[in-house]
Amino acid sequence: MSDETSNTEGQLAIVTGAGRGIGAAIAQRLSDAGYAVAIWDYDGETATATAKALSDAGRRAIGARVDVSDESMVEAATQAAEAAFGAPYLLVNNAATRHNERLEDLKRESWDREIATNLTGPFVCTQIVGRRMLAAGTGAIVNIASMAGSNGQAVRGAYTPAKAGVLGLTYLTAVEWGGRGIRCNAISPGMISTPAHAATYSDENLKKAREAMVPTGRIGNGKDIADAVIFLASDGAGYINGANLPVDGGITKSILALMPVPASDGGFETMLGRLRP
Ligand SMILES: NC(=O)c1ccc[n+]([C@@H]2O[C@H](COP(=O)([O-])OP(=O)(O)OC[C@H]3O[C@@H](n4cnc5c(N)ncnc54)[C@H](O)[C@@H]3O)[C@@H](O)[C@H]2O)c1
Repeated sequence: MSDETSNTEGQLAIVTGAGRGIGAAIAQRLSDAGYAVAIWDYDGETATATAKALSDAGRRAIGARVDVSDESMVEAATQAAEAAFGAPYLLVNNAATRHNERLEDLKRESWDREIATNLTGPFVCTQIVGRRMLAAGTGAIVNIASMAGSNGQAVRGAYTPAKAGVLGLTYLTAVEWGGRGIRCNAISPGMISTPAHAATYSDENLKKAREAMVPTGRIGNGKDIADAVIFLASDGAGYINGANLPVDGGITKSILALMPVPASDGGFETMLGRLRP
């Protein structure tokens, strides 16, 4: 039994949106730590491929095409995962989508779709999977929010309102179910490089400009988020409930160090830039 999972080893973890990106990294990390994993994604091919790669390596994994906002799909996939690996111990609400529309032009249809996936989806999964956890009297839920849930992200459609709602759902779940053996916490990732962001981070100048905004000086990766999930799910986090953990290299606390200040060459620099070794 490893320290990081303790009595959760071998138990079922469900990860939504796990066909690629951060979700796939979380599923891989949970599998490495001994969990059986259910990999759900709207894109059924990536869900099946990610699960197959794990099962081919001798791990316990099941993939399913699931739209997180669809109750009947979530119920059916929960039953299938439960039949394979027993009652779920961990739910990671990770699936999300984004639109690049200005507020004044945001179509009602785009708003509805984004709220459905990014906020209603976590609610549906929390309720359906959470009922099993309540019956078992134990469980953990980790909601992948965003720094955009606590800060307005411009020209991102309904992303900020949806992620702020995910934080609200986290606090509600923590309060209602904390006394019944279930802890619920959120992670707010900062700038995370995944294959879907390959174009952004393959532009070296853009990458450097973004890195200059992060106190730790680098862009995050899927493993950074997965490591935080492992911790929040573990017994070591047994008294952590209703928290919003930023995993962002400190960027959301660095605004005062990003103000331009006079530089020795007569131009401007940021205090963060001046502090770089
Ligand atoms: N990458 C970042 O910089 C970053 C920053 C902050 C927060 N996040 C959050 O991290 C999570 C993962 O982000 P990512 O960058 O890996 O995204 P991604 O777009 O690469 O992956 C999201 C996955 O969710 C799936 N998905 C979309 N709609 C779905 C639905 N209705 N039902 C089931 N699956 C669905 C997609 O098919 C995809 O596989 C998201 O919640 C995102 O908001 C990411």
